[in-house]
Amino acid sequence: MAAAVKEYQLAPGTGVAGSVTIPGDKSISHRALMLGGIATGATRISGFLASEDCLATLSALAALGVQIERPQATEVIVHGVGAAGLHGSAKPLDMGNAGTAMRLSMGLLAGRPFASTLIGDASLMRRPMERVAGPLRQMGAEITTQEGRPPVRLHGGRVLNAIDYVMPMASAQVKSAILLAGLSANGTTRVTEPAPTRDHTERMLHAFGVRVGREGAAVTLSGGQPLTGTHIDVPADFSSAAFFLVAGCLAAQQGLRLCNVGVNPTRTGLLEMLQLMGARITVHPRSSGVGEPIADIEVQAGPLRGIEVPASLVPLSIDEFPVFFIAAACAQGETVVRGAEELRVKESDRLAVMAAGLKTLGIDHTLLPDGIRIRGGQGFTGGTVDSHGDHRIAMSFAIASLKASAPIRILDVANVATSFPGFVELAQSIGIRISAP
Ligand code: S3P
Repeated sequence: MAAAVKEYQLAPGTGVAGSVTIPGDKSISHRALMLGGIATGATRISGFLASEDCLATLSALAALGVQIERPQATEVIVHGVGAAGLHGSAKPLDMGNAGTAMRLSMGLLAGRPFASTLIGDASLMRRPMERVAGPLRQMGAEITTQEGRPPVRLHGGRVLNAIDYVMPMASAQVKSAILLAGLSANGTTRVTEPAPTRDHTERMLHAFGVRVGREGAAVTLSGGQPLTGTHIDVPADFSSAAFFLVAGCLAAQQGLRLCNVGVNPTRTGLLEMLQLMGARITVHPRSSGVGEPIADIEVQAGPLRGIEVPASLVPLSIDEFPVFFIAAACAQGETVVRGAEELRVKESDRLAVMAAGLKTLGIDHTLLPDGIRIRGGQGFTGGTVDSHGDHRIAMSFAIASLKASAPIRILDVANVATSFPGFVELAQSIGIRISAP
């Protein structure tokens, strides 16, 4: 195995151009593996994201008795074992850096006849799990956490009953975990969200033949429905495309094209935020085969102005804030983000870690408990930024180099492989002057 890349070095940018195809969607790849695993018959996944996070889910399913073939890195065939076919794993299931893998697996495994233990890397072992364990206990599961954090022990052997759950926070992972548990529960499970969050689980359950209802802000699902294997064609990940979208806004004088990107409206808050800032972005819809909208996105550099981010867009762009802060730092005037306290419990405390990096690179800002105020327009100085092992922070500061006056070094970048294999090469292909020595 190649040694993990430790740092990025970036020279100040001279512009970006071209056309890129971004790797597959992480959220959709995790879900395709899990639903394929408990379906009857084979599921073919094309455009699978071969990243460390998704491979953690793949290994966990293999340990639970699901046979999985990978004829190519991005092509996977899951031989589903049906609703009752999973068996226990003697070893703990290691979810690495992947919050989605851990939280959705809690829902998938809570009602099984066997016990499971879920662990992860240092970052995941610090993240809150009671938000999922709580409602699953209400359904009848027996779950132990360590002061709310992993290791998560699912004791198994309990009968689950449907609940009517009103989520205290907007979280697709919590919603999805409850729906997955609802599949093996008696009765009709109902989950109400305080604001819309990504709906890939609902769309994909439908593709596997499960009836999922929507009543306003509530999603409903009756337990005991069988899943039938299918073909899932995974679009490019909007959250990975986000780095290139912002790169284009900052430095694509002749334009930059992003191909086949998933543009599910529960994911594209960043597009709206950049458009509110005055960005020149055109979305060309393409046909979609898996119930997920897909588009080519064209972006051209132009002046950006600071905005107050509408509260409704926060859950729809939750993973894109690190790179949005880079755009905000380059916009004229002040940008304000509030109501984004969830950023503090991601792979890192993204508000604190981004604020520290912005400070190093000379950007005037005020950190708030639930957001940030950024006074932009001056460009970045050079400097050394610590990503704290957070993939999206590492990639965001790489984009900052396009508007930097001196070289930028980014430390602790190995985790970029959790979501975006090939990031360095793709960034180089559009003109970003990045090396990974
Ligand atoms: C995800 C949901 C989001 C997001 C994460 C992926 C998913 O987390 O931040 O990267 O695939 O369901 P929350 O549900 O915790 O907001």
